[in-house]
Amino acid sequence: MSELIRVDRDRLWGDLMRLAQIGAYDDVPTGLRGVRRLALTDEDAQARRQVIEWMREAGLVVRIDRIGNVYGRRAGTDDSLPCVLMGSHIDTVTSGGAFDGTLGVLGGIEVVRALNDRGLSTLRPIEVGFFTEEEGVRFGVDMLGSAVTAGRLALEYAHKLTDDEGASVADELIRTGFDGQEAERRPVPFAYIECHIEQGPILAAAGVDVGVVTGVQGISWQRLVLRGAAAHAGTTPIEHRQDAGVAAAAVILELRRMCESGRFGQLRGTVGKLSIEPGSTNVVPSGATMTIDMRNPDDVAMMAAEAALAAFVAELPGKYGVTGSLERMAKTFTVRFDADVRALIAATADDLGLPYVHAMSGAGHDAQEIAAICPTAMIFVAGENGGISHTPREYSNPTACGNGADLLANSIFRLAQASRLAQAS
Ligand code: GLV
Ligand code: MN
Ligand code: MN
Repeated sequence: MSELIRVDRDRLWGDLMRLAQIGAYDDVPTGLRGVRRLALTDEDAQARRQVIEWMREAGLVVRIDRIGNVYGRRAGTDDSLPCVLMGSHIDTVTSGGAFDGTLGVLGGIEVVRALNDRGLSTLRPIEVGFFTEEEGVRFGVDMLGSAVTAGRLALEYAHKLTDDEGASVADELIRTGFDGQEAERRPVPFAYIECHIEQGPILAAAGVDVGVVTGVQGISWQRLVLRGAAAHAGTTPIEHRQDAGVAAAAVILELRRMCESGRFGQLRGTVGKLSIEPGSTNVVPSGATMTIDMRNPDDVAMMAAEAALAAFVAELPGKYGVTGSLERMAKTFTVRFDADVRALIAATADDLGLPYVHAMSGAGHDAQEIAAICPTAMIFVAGENGGISHTPREYSNPTACGNGADLLANSIFRLAQASRLAQAS
């Protein structure tokens, strides 16, 4: 076993805290400082520039592709070999924290610095990347940049997506200066590892700082548009109403019932965005638009849940006089990560003396897209407060982050020295 690499934990923590200042906002419900850095906004662009500066300071050669994904490259002693890639995302949800995505990117830069500090070269090149619009909050499709890179989504389709104000991905890439010239289908890496906070309770409950991720569950995003009829709130008898607000409430409750029924496996359903028209106190709602997020580790159970939801929507005209149309926003199937890369991470954790558990991811990640083009796995880092995330309460302590980055560093180093994957562990 070669000497183990240790990252500089304070330096990594300092970067995490510094990046969290970009897009920082006061979160009224929690009374905490959160991070709001939606993809391709001014805040995201500022954070991108900061991360690129850190990449260059670490000696990485930076390139940007046509969907705005950014890669920093450290040459290998045989630079013609496929690289070992690490990374994640730096965009956030509207109520984000300091760790979701950023740990994998800043952790990756810290890995490169740790190699530099020790004067360690590697056979294979090493790259650190961050992918555009992982959250899907602004343009409605999650893992957008990595899905384009992996070839699941076409660049033209991605460029045409718009936000709620009608601004397109293509226009926002140009406006922010991140309309890169590199081909969006990147050269196929030798392997990819993404280090990410768990965003769930499994690691903390097991009392470990790190986890080896077995895969990611399926994700279904749909938009439901309900059409009823506006009417006077005081004069219109209840039985004469076509109240889109009532229909929206019925759908939300049905989704909850579906989750609790046990008929759809471990289904999780969320309506996270809802708007009602015309939006007046004294007018029966004529319309409602909502997003429906469903997660399921079982693709067959997910299909059954989608069919049951569609059947419920089809009954809305008879029940409430309201029509509903479901529109697909995004869909990914359950992904299993590469057994060899998982074994390598597990063996490396053993060598570092880090206890770990194997865990399936409840959240979506760029790794589930990159898994389509090269052997891929993830390292999870435990979070406090039950691993809560997508809220400013998200918190992973410096020790857990440092342990995750150490595991990333040594796993990546072993991969970058291997001529074949089976050799690495
Ligand atoms: C990404 O954070 C997701 O799982 O929605
Ligand atoms: Mn994330
Ligand atoms: Mn997220």
